[in-house]
Amino acid sequence: MIRGSKIHIIFLFLPSGKEKYWTGGNFMVFKIIRKLGTLNMSKPLTCFIQMKKNNIIFSIYFLLIPVLQITARDYLTVTPDRPLGQQPFMITHGPYLQHLGETGVTIIWTTNGSGVSWVELAPDDGTHFYHSERPRYHAASHGLKNVSAVHRVRVGGLKPGTRYRYRVYSTEVVNYSGMKVEYGNTVASNVYRQLPLTFITNDHSKEESAFVMLSDIHGNNEIMRQLLGLVDWDNTDMVFFNGDMYGHLESQQQLFDDFMDTAVKIFAGEIPLYYARGNHEARGVYAHNFSDYFPGPEGHLYYMFRQGPVSYLVFDSGEDKPDSDIEYHGIAVFDDYMEQQAEWLRNVINDEAFISSDFKIAVIHIPPNHSWYGAGRIYENLVPVLNESGIDLMLCGHRHRVFVHEPGGGIDFPIVENGHNTLLHAETKGGRLILKIVDIEGGVVESLVIDRSD
Ligand SMILES: [Fe+2]
Repeated sequence: MIRGSKIHIIFLFLPSGKEKYWTGGNFMVFKIIRKLGTLNMSKPLTCFIQMKKNNIIFSIYFLLIPVLQITARDYLTVTPDRPLGQQPFMITHGPYLQHLGETGVTIIWTTNGSGVSWVELAPDDGTHFYHSERPRYHAASHGLKNVSAVHRVRVGGLKPGTRYRYRVYSTEVVNYSGMKVEYGNTVASNVYRQLPLTFITNDHSKEESAFVMLSDIHGNNEIMRQLLGLVDWDNTDMVFFNGDMYGHLESQQQLFDDFMDTAVKIFAGEIPLYYARGNHEARGVYAHNFSDYFPGPEGHLYYMFRQGPVSYLVFDSGEDKPDSDIEYHGIAVFDDYMEQQAEWLRNVINDEAFISSDFKIAVIHIPPNHSWYGAGRIYENLVPVLNESGIDLMLCGHRHRVFVHEPGGGIDFPIVENGHNTLLHAETKGGRLILKIVDIEGGVVESLVIDRSD
């Protein structure tokens, strides 16, 4: 990081007629330049002026040498743009919940500089958050605390169906050199001016469950705000983002500008978000960082979880055209990736939590069919195993339209497509799964009931 610059001036003069010594003189000057540059770990900018007066040749060298300061931020892969000295260290986005399960949750937030982080957890027992010292869960990997500007803390050892309160903390690392770590300020989420954030762990014995799903928002915060404004949060267990929440991703800032800041503001700090990656999530340079913000359990973006009587199979649909397509510029290998997901699916459908659930729902962005290559790839790889697994329903997005497909054409389950400006709501009630899709005014566009009460 450039922290300023120094100007050095070197004078060299020789009597006229001794020009043959210029080579040596210049060599000496360039050695000085190189030495100064090495000291400052930067390349000097140079210029010189030569003039002759009274048989003396004067040379003046001007050296502008950038002064570098290597800080912890320069060593780290995730480096936000924080103008030094202008902004205090602060939490910039989040926190939000990921992969809430029966016994654990991942909590994620970002800061405008790199630091070490942890979460403090308290039971929801009516005591003040500072009634006692709360247990700490650190952002760490392989025995070392992570030094990063994107903070992911896995909190484990929790009880199912239990509400917890939490507070997130980050301490800035201002310099990290050799074995020496220098720390700056500590920042934390608020527990004074507002109540601490809370979450409730999943519980497979919960009698009923309800969720909502959005898809194809493509960075339209206003539509998202209106649709989420229709949700009864007291009776909603979770939210699915079923793909294409942005067009293509170029930066962390865009990720939060396009949809995640709105999600955090409305629900994501307290209601769990489960993400099914769509084809657009795979586009753009920063798409490679997607899993930093939405890390799947066991390192995968496809996963299964259970809440109440429902188990969910969440897939990553991949791109919609062949891997060799000109649009992907040789960066896509989704054929192999879909085969991996099919292999995983063949195993996970034997999981007791999946088998014993009353309702089994697959969540995938692209609906399987033979119209496009990506849809066909899902049809070929996943549909035969999903038929065998006895799922009740598949939820999709992608085509920006609302549509309910009855079983048929080699697919043994109904498929519901959600639109880009509609909200899908589903709840279980006495052995029935009741699903409706509403527009931004709350008007019902489509509905479906799956009855398993007999
Ligand atoms: Fe899509």
